[in-house]
Amino acid sequence: MSHTRRCLFLTFATAGVIGVFTLAADSPAGHRPRYTNDGLLEVPRDFRSWVFVGANLSPQYRSKAAQTKQPAGELETKPGTKNDTFHNIYINPESYAVFLRTGTFPDPTMLVMEVFRAEDKDSGGVLAGGQFEGKRISLDAAVKDRNRPGGGVPWAYYSFDLDKESKALRPAEAFPDASCYDCHLKHASKDNVWVQFYPALRDPN
Ligand code: HEC
Repeated sequence: MSHTRRCLFLTFATAGVIGVFTLAADSPAGHRPRYTNDGLLEVPRDFRSWVFVGANLSPQYRSKAAQTKQPAGELETKPGTKNDTFHNIYINPESYAVFLRTGTFPDPTMLVMEVFRAEDKDSGGVLAGGQFEGKRISLDAAVKDRNRPGGGVPWAYYSFDLDKESKALRPAEAFPDASCYDCHLKHASKDNVWVQFYPALRDPN
């Protein structure tokens, strides 16, 4: 190898090594559920950069909804009223990739549902109609993790308390199966997840 070629080779090789290290440092170790020492689910902080799978407007749950404890966002309203809510649903990107390839949700998988009150009056008075996402009213998570503290059925469900004073979100305890799991198991179209309501899972391009 000539001197110039060797220099070039070394330059590219070094750049390659730096590139690999930079990539490794940039790519997160994956979005896995994390728990506190007493088994509460930590708030998945970066979920807004995950895959956005669907947005539902004021869904009402028919099946025994009145008898079970609902996440704060499930209001007793009819679409088109002042109490409309938007439900934004996200999935961690690694599980989305596996779902597209295999049609199944790997373990672990996390879905987050952020609920906003629909508002129709903006401060500037520009809107002549329609609604936008106003105040956030709840944040829930569905987590498939057989290794979670306490074990049990494959999926566990959580609601993070929105602390009104500090806006800080605190880790959450899993709900009893009868509160959440049972309805998801019975009525959701794929492995406890409401794929029937989420375009990015139901009709992937
Ligand atoms: C009576 C049925 C029912 C019960 C009980 C129920 N859910 Fe759901 N859940 C739904 C439906 C329907 C959707 C999808 C529509 C929506 O809300 O946007 C959903 C969606 C979700 C999602 C989005 C991810 C997913 O799994 O598809 C989360 C997170 C969630 N629910 C959490 C909870 C929690 C926490 C509880 C218990 C406190 C609960 N759910 C109880 C019917 C139910």
